[in-house]
Order: sequence, then structure tokens, then C-alpha cells
Amino acid sequence: MRIDIMTLFTEMCDSVLGESIIGRAREAGKVEINTRDIREYTEDKHRRVDDKPYGGGMGMVMQAEPIFACFNSICDELGKRPHLIYMTPQGKTLTQKRVKELSRLDNIAILCGHYEGVDERVIEELEPEEISIGDYVLTGGELPALILADSISRMLDGVLSNDECFEEESHYNSLLEYPQYTHPAEWRGRQVPEVLLSGHHAKVDEWRREQSLLRTLRRRPDMLEKAELTEKDKSILSSFEGEKIC
Ligand code: ADE
Repeated sequence: MRIDIMTLFTEMCDSVLGESIIGRAREAGKVEINTRDIREYTEDKHRRVDDKPYGGGMGMVMQAEPIFACFNSICDELGKRPHLIYMTPQGKTLTQKRVKELSRLDNIAILCGHYEGVDERVIEELEPEEISIGDYVLTGGELPALILADSISRMLDGVLSNDECFEEESHYNSLLEYPQYTHPAEWRGRQVPEVLLSGHHAKVDEWRREQSLLRTLRRRPDMLEKAELTEKDKSILSSFEGEKIC
């Protein structure tokens, strides 16, 4: 998988992408993530890539041509058109399901918007998939692009080690994750649940599933509609359903 991030702030992206699990995965060649400076593709002698909006109003708008030229340079380098994503609060909200689907692609390019947005004509011309990371507005598309690149990368083979495995994590099965504990067994008078100290794997699994169901019911009951539930899960849930949901 290769991801190209088109941005005005390459250093901001590079500093995040060089760290931790993604930094290691990039070094090991498990994922290739490049950043491209849109400013390199302007013909303007002052390297300007934005201008005032037609019709007036606040802020600046990113011009179409530098974005178009930047994307074309990626296409030329790859010899094909990568799947293009534009990070915008106007897009469809990102889900783990979409992350999983995107992780199956070979090439993705991500456009980070800035200022008051980008000239609509480049959106019409390139027809990107528009993705939002949530119903709130950030100062630019860099943090959303990094979130997307991170969430996709960690789904790729060899990026997470066995003990970082994601199969039981929140959202993986449309359920939230069960609570986790580590040493010491007692901390400020709070005990680790007895069953986790028992060494009885089947019982531990059963307790974790129950906790997962209970957490989802209490915090995100909407997610249960999509979850794959066994008859046993359903009976566990119905035994909890009478309780007050916080
Ligand atoms: N750019 C600014 N806010 C954003 C959001 N919520 N999602 C994606 N891109 C954005």
C-alpha cells in the first residue's frame, strides 16, 4: 500500500508519520507514506497557492491548478490513478468499515484542504471521495489525513505485532472493547476482577464478551444494531436491558 498526502504542511505530517508504530512500519517497508508539498506545483513566483474568494467573504481559497498538478505528478509517478480522497467536514463520516475497505487498495492519495476550502472546480474535475472525521471543524485537513492514514496502515499485514492485534478492539466487531488491567493486582484499594487472575481462559473470554456487550449497551446502544450477536449474546443483553443506561 502506498499513500500520498498532498498538503501545504509536509513537516507537520512527516513529524507524526515518523513516530511510533507507523514510523516503524514505514521503515520496515510495510507501508509507504509520502507527503507532497502542493506549493511545489504553483507557477506563481511568490509560491502562492491561495486567493480571495470570488463573490467576497472571509478567508482564502486554495487554487485549483496547483492541486491538479500535484495530483497529476503522483499519477505520472505511479503510472496509474490512485484512489483520491479529499478530507473535508462536508464528507461522509469515516467508519471502521470504510477504513477496512480502503486498506485493501494499493494506492491512495489524500488531499488536505486549508483556509476556507478549495476551488470547487478541482473537486468537480478530480471527483475525490470526500471524507470527514467527525462533525466538528479543524483548521485544516492535515490532522484528518493523518488519522485516515494511521487507521488504514494499522490494518495492513505486518504493521501491528501480535500483541498489538486488533481483532478484539473497539469497533472491530461493532462492539466496544472490554476493560483492560495490568499490574499491580490491587491499586488504591481497587482490585483487578477475580476472573482475570484465575488463569481460566474460557472464563476470561466469557467475561470479556459480557463486558464488551455491557459497555456497548451502556455507551453506544446504536452500535448493537450492526453487531453480529449470538443467541447467548442476546440473552446476556436482555438480562442487562432492565438496568439504568448511563
Ligand atoms: N477539515 C477540517 N475539518 C475536518 C473534518 N472534521 N474532517 C475532515 N477534514 C476536515
